[in-house]
Formats: sequence, structure tokens, C-alpha cells
Amino acid sequence: MRTNTGQTIHLEDYRPTDFVLERVDLTFELDPKETKVEARLIFHRREGVSPAAPLVLDGDELRMTGLLLDQVEIPPTHFDATDDTLTIRGLPETAPFEITITTLLSPETNTKLMGLYRTNNVYCTQCEAEGFRRITYFPDRPDVLAVYTVNIIADKATTPLLLSNGNHLGGADMGDGRHFAAWFDPHPKPSYLFALVAGDLGVVEDTFTTASGRTVALRIYVEHGKEAGASYAMDALKRSMKWDEEVFGREYDLDIFMIVAVSDFNMGAMENKGLNVFNDKYVLADPETATDADYANIEAIIAHEYFHNWTGNRITCRDWFQLCLKEGLTVFRDHEFSADMRSRAVKRIAEVRHLKSEQFPEDAGPLAHPVRPTKYREINNFYTTTVYEKGSEVTRMIATILGRDLFKKGMDLYFDRHDGQAVTIEDFVACFEDASGRNLKQFSLWYHQAGTPLVTASGSYDADKQTFSLSLEQTVPPTPGQSTKEPMHIPLRLGLLLEDGSEAKAASVSGADITEDVIHLTKRKQTVLFSGIPSRPVPSLNRGFSAPINLHIEQSPGDRALIARHEIDLFARWQALNAIALDNLVAATTQARNGQPVVCDNALVAGLIAAAADDRLEPAFRSQALTLPSESDIAREIGSDNDPDAIHTGRQQILAGVAAAGRDTFNRLMDDMAAPGPFSPDATSAGRRALRNSALSFLVYGDKGPERAAEAFRAANNMTDLSIALTLLAHRFPDAKETAEALAHFKQRFADNALVIDKWFAIQATVPGPRTLDRVKTLMSDPLFNGNNPNRVRSLVGTFAFSNPTGFNRADGEGYRFLARQILDIDPRNPQLAARILTSMRSWRSLEKVRSDHARNALAEIAGAANLSADVSDIVDRMLE
Ligand code: ARG
Ligand code: ZN
Repeated sequence: MRTNTGQTIHLEDYRPTDFVLERVDLTFELDPKETKVEARLIFHRREGVSPAAPLVLDGDELRMTGLLLDQVEIPPTHFDATDDTLTIRGLPETAPFEITITTLLSPETNTKLMGLYRTNNVYCTQCEAEGFRRITYFPDRPDVLAVYTVNIIADKATTPLLLSNGNHLGGADMGDGRHFAAWFDPHPKPSYLFALVAGDLGVVEDTFTTASGRTVALRIYVEHGKEAGASYAMDALKRSMKWDEEVFGREYDLDIFMIVAVSDFNMGAMENKGLNVFNDKYVLADPETATDADYANIEAIIAHEYFHNWTGNRITCRDWFQLCLKEGLTVFRDHEFSADMRSRAVKRIAEVRHLKSEQFPEDAGPLAHPVRPTKYREINNFYTTTVYEKGSEVTRMIATILGRDLFKKGMDLYFDRHDGQAVTIEDFVACFEDASGRNLKQFSLWYHQAGTPLVTASGSYDADKQTFSLSLEQTVPPTPGQSTKEPMHIPLRLGLLLEDGSEAKAASVSGADITEDVIHLTKRKQTVLFSGIPSRPVPSLNRGFSAPINLHIEQSPGDRALIARHEIDLFARWQALNAIALDNLVAATTQARNGQPVVCDNALVAGLIAAAADDRLEPAFRSQALTLPSESDIAREIGSDNDPDAIHTGRQQILAGVAAAGRDTFNRLMDDMAAPGPFSPDATSAGRRALRNSALSFLVYGDKGPERAAEAFRAANNMTDLSIALTLLAHRFPDAKETAEALAHFKQRFADNALVIDKWFAIQATVPGPRTLDRVKTLMSDPLFNGNNPNRVRSLVGTFAFSNPTGFNRADGEGYRFLARQILDIDPRNPQLAARILTSMRSWRSLEKVRSDHARNALAEIAGAANLSADVSDIVDRMLE
């Protein structure tokens, strides 16, 4: 029994609306149970459209109590209102007309967190992608741009603050205990960028003076009493505004910019025009409660949403297939911003780790889809790491291929040519072609072909001729709906290192186009010949991760170690160390699975310890070097027939090997990296903490008892150190009394701070091993857990499923059955959240047979359930296809 399976929408079916929307006037009379919305919409029929064509508007779970045409009631014979559309016939042939729609909403019972809902007694909206149709009937699609006026009426005592997009026009007391406020947004926008927030909130205020000298009022709204926690976000906002002026030449365009932090939110944040709404997790931070990772996330997400003002809002998407037009580009912009604020190399390493651990598995599994998809059943399921992160990598490759100046010229042309429009990926790419004179047709396959390309490389040196020949072959694996692929344009940055670590300068290069250190792979097979190479070189390929590919090259640990020691590109050094580690970890998995002793490679140990001890390198980099590939990285590398227990055992043994060999170095780092002064969240201090904690982790791995970890827990004076110490205790010594005490202490200390309690849930949800499932179940009945709050659910259930390979993938399949029950429980309340957490099973086919059988059965149980949402049924169907 299935309902709500959703229609498939196809890109090729796109056509513009029959009617042009000129203006929108909205009046909200807010009430938790019954909010009245009056929408006055001015339309005219588009030229050439048949006079008989009806107006068809989108709706979702609406109660309509009034419908007028030019202030006169429309007779029932002239319209049909169904669950998801309102069709109105007999409309004027050419003259503009006004449709007035009255709807009644119940924000309090809106648990889907789409449309208008309540969170902590605050009214709040989320309209992207299709939430506006839950407020009123509307042409709810991104290519319908209009100017909005919004009037908000609410009880003055409980709802003193009334916010919407644009500039505040005014407001007044209504004399009956209510008040109103009016807002006007002069910039035409699609409905997904509409926002309304109303309630009783505290505020932090500041100003920013733009490059042209205008003063912009900045406001961040948070719960009363939490104002101090917004100061880092405010600082990040001002830095973002300045950076976008300096780097992309983009100035802010309203008199006021507002951010509101709310505690119930399905995603990270939302870029509504002039009124960004944030998951409070990405706004609030102080040393006592936020980790260095939290600070970095806040900086990046504040920037991301702000940058959308130009890439997304001023220039938006023609349809939702073009989502990467705004998301991929804006992620690229926030990556560049963070790279400029922090260490570029360390930022790049973190990005690539994230890309490989999240996007590569998506691209290799049943949910793989192109960066620019051509069909979808539920658009919410396409806010994916492929659209966002791979989309960003594709933008980065355009910059690599064109070079800095031409990329900038292309961006300027894009802003110039398309400001105020809703456009496509083709429009975007054309700007770079026009600005550079380059043909990007083959390159555009990156938008259309799913799957991570595999490049296989092998080199041979001819000492007599002093030539080095590099053979490269690319294949793009088949993905759902795309069985055969064309060769792609892959920009591969490379260097040839000589034995002394210096870089060989080739006298000439043939066999591929080459610009600076980029070779352009465009054919299935290509051999590149470098001449004038004095001795056998070691190729360092895909410097800076210039292309999001899998790379296979036969390279000895010794050659890799040479790269790790001498590359001028720090990212490439990390990449080489990582490759040595991954080879060793894959071998360790096999050894563990066969019951053989696990052998720790000397090149690995030496490389890691040398990087850790190298004081010429920045601490944040050394910490990254010390972070071994995760268990899911190893699983992805192995690819099929995975046994998570063997991966875990093998990896633990390697950790123990490194811990033993590096003890002196790690002890020295504990002293050297101790904080010289009071806490500061800046990148340099964070890097020192990271390196010190990496050293501590290895030391604790070598420990027999919990004393050192317990001492670190007691000594911690910031959340980074505290949460790492607690993690070490819980993961390494799950049964020690010190661990139980620390967990209890942490809980008691932070019981009134839900965001910190989320860390407490997550740390326990990731304790390795089969017993953690029971712990997760117990924690779900803890009074601090709340199954209706997305952050709580993600931190406990989501973290368990996504980030606990041995716990979730219990050989008896109980982990999957647990998840299936959770999905079916969450789905009726919040389908988006359910669907998102279900994607944790996207790699189920790569498990060994016993587990994959259990996984399939659990998925089938979900698929067979009654009344599944379109969100969950879309995901589960694709996973079982
Ligand atoms: N546009 C938001 C961003 O900054 C994401 C919003 C997605 N929301 C959703 N319900 N699908 O990335
Ligand atoms: Zn975004």
C-alpha cells in the first residue's frame, strides 16, 4: 500500500508560466492555532498564451476560506481547489487582474518545518524549496519573481518582534492588544526566498559600511539571554561582507541585514532575502560550549548564506534542476572565504576529506545523480552533497582551467548579464566561454554525468632519452540511469619530483594540452611525454585536488614518502601520506579478516611521525597529517564485500602501532602545543589544540587505563579539549568508572544547553561495537532527548547510523531494523528529516552478504509500509532499484 509516491518531474518539460506575477501583497494575522493569510496577487496573461488558459497555482495542505477576482468572489464554477492545486478559469485576456486568496494555517501543528511553523514560541518560515505553497496558493517556482509587501499582525505582548524581508516600512499599535508591522522588499524574488519571523527574541546589533559608503544595519536575533553567544557570528558576517566586496566585487543591497537563530530547523540555514534563518547550532558559540569545529562551521555558514545574496538571490535558478547554480557556486565561494580567513592548505584538506567521505559514496551508490539532475520525484532529496560539494568542485575546476583572471572576468560577466534573472547552468557556463574564448562543451559533462571518474596512471622513465612518459586512462563508472559515459575534461595539476625533492622542469611536453602545472586530460587514454628530465622522477598527481576523481597509481611507499616530505604543495604532501596510510589500512583489514597479525608499515609510521614533529609546518597541518583515514574511508577504498568489524580491528592495530612508535614525539607535542595564554578561537590557536589533541589521542590509544584521558577531561578549559577527552574516555574505555563519571558530570553541567547535550548524545552514539545500539535506545528515553527536534534526532539517531560503522552495521542486522523503525516513526511528522537520515544506508550494497541481506530486508520493510511520504519513498525506492 503506497500513497504519496509523487510524480516524476523532468527537466525537458520545463516551460515558463502562462501568467506573469507582477506584485505580491501578504497580510498575516498570526495565531498559533489559526493564522489567517490574505494574499493579493497581481497577474497578467503572458503574451501569446491562449485566452482560455486557466491560472494554475500550487498548494499543499491548505484550508482556503476566500477567493476573489478583483475584489469580487469567484463562483465555484470558475475554480477547482484540490490538495495540491488551485485552478481558476475565465480570467481577463490581457488586462492585469488581482486574485485575493484567504487561507487558514495552524503553525503550532506544522511538524514538517516547511511553510509557517512555531519553534520555541517563535513563528518562523522555511520556504525553500516548495514551502511557500503551504502558506497560500501560489506559482511556487523559482522563475516567478515578484516584489513583495508584507503586513504582519500579532499579539503585542507575546509577539513583540515582527520581521520579514526587505526594509521596514513602519508599524503601529492597533489598540486591541495587537500591533502590526509592514515590510517592503524592492528586489524581485522567487517565493522560496520569502521569510517571516515573529516572536520575543533578544538582539545583537552592529553596522557595516559598504564600499560605496552606505551604512547597513546588522541584527542577529537569538533567544533572550543568549546574545553574547552571537558575537562570533556577527564578526564572521562583517568579514563576509567585506570579503565579497574585495574578492567578487559584490556589495550588499538593502539597508538592513538580519539573521535569526531558531532551535527547530531541518537544514543548516536559509538565505531568505535580508532575513536569513539559521539553525541555532550555526550561530551560537562561546569557548565553554563551542568546539573549534563549531567556530569554523559558523564562520562558513554565515558566509555561505550571506554570499547567496548575489549567487542565488539577485541571480536565481530557473527551475530546481539548476540548484547547483546557486549551491555549488556558493559553496565554492564560502570555501574560498574560509581559505582566506584560515590556512588554505588545511582548509583544502578538510574539504577533500569531507568530499571523499560524503560525496564519493553517494556518487558510487544507488543515490548517485548528476550535479545537474534531469529528473526528480522529491526536490528536497536533491539538497545533496553532489549538488553542493561536487557542484563546488566543478566551479573550482572552471577557475583552474581558465586561471584566476579569466575566471574573474567570467564571474563579472555573469553578474552583469544575469542580475535580476532566473537562469540555468548553460547560462552560467556560457559566461565563462564568452569571457575566455574557451570551449567548455566537453567540460560541461561534469554537470551531466554522475559517478566519480577513475584515472589510472603509470609512468616510465627512459634514462637514455631523458624522457618521462605518463600514461593516463580515465573511466567513469556506470550510475543509475547512465550506463555509458563519455570521456571528461579533467584538469590534473601535477609536479615531477626528483630524488633530492626538487621539481623537474621539463624542456617540452607533448601528448596533452598543458597550462602551467595543469595537464588537460580529454581523451579516454592519453600518454604525456616530458622531455629533458635528468633522472627518474616521482609524479605527484592531482595537486590541490584539482579534479574530484579517484586516482590509481602504482607508487612505492618510498616514492610516496618523497612527495610527503618535499612537495611544495602542502595538500599534495597530505595526499601522499594519506595514500600510504590507506594502502596499509586496506592490507590491515585483510589481515584482520583472515585472523593474521596486522603489520604496520614502517614508511607510514616514519612519515606520520616526521610530519607531526616538523616544527616548520603549521600545527593544523600536522594534526591533519596525523589523522588516519576513517573506517568509512577504508570501506570506500575496498569497495565491495565489506566487513566493518575487520576494518575496525585492522585500523585499531595500526593506531596502536603508530602510538607505540611515536610516544616520545606525542609527549613532546603535549608540552609544546599547550596553550600559551587564554582561550582564543582563532585558526592558529585552534591548530595548536588540534595537534595537541591528535597527540593525546595516540597516547591514550597506547594507554592501558583511563587515567590520562580522565586527567585531560579534568584539565580542559574549553569545549574542544573537553569533548575530545570525553570521546577518548567513552570510546577507548567504555566500561571504566572514570568514563561513567565524566559522562554524568558533562550531562549535569550542560543539561540546560541542548546544543552541548547534542555532543553528549553523539559521543555515546559513536562508541564502537555492538553494544552501542542498546545505549542509543536507552538515550532515546532520556528526558533531554526530544524526537521532534531535528538537531536531537540527528545527533543521536543520525550520528549512530552515519558515523558508527561497527555499531550500526551489527552482524545480526539489529542496527538496520532499529533505523527502519525510527524512519517509520519520524516520517509522518517530518518526512525531510526521515529521508535524510535514511540516506545513511546508501552504501548498503558494498557490505558483505550477511549484512547486505539484513540491510535489504530492513529497506524492504520501509518500502512496504503504508502512507510513506514522497520523501522517504523516493529514497527507499532508489536504494532498492
Ligand atoms: N538554501 C539553503 C542553503 O543555504 C538550504 C535550504 C534547503 N532546505 C530544504 N528544505 N531543502 O544551502
Ligand atoms: Zn546554500
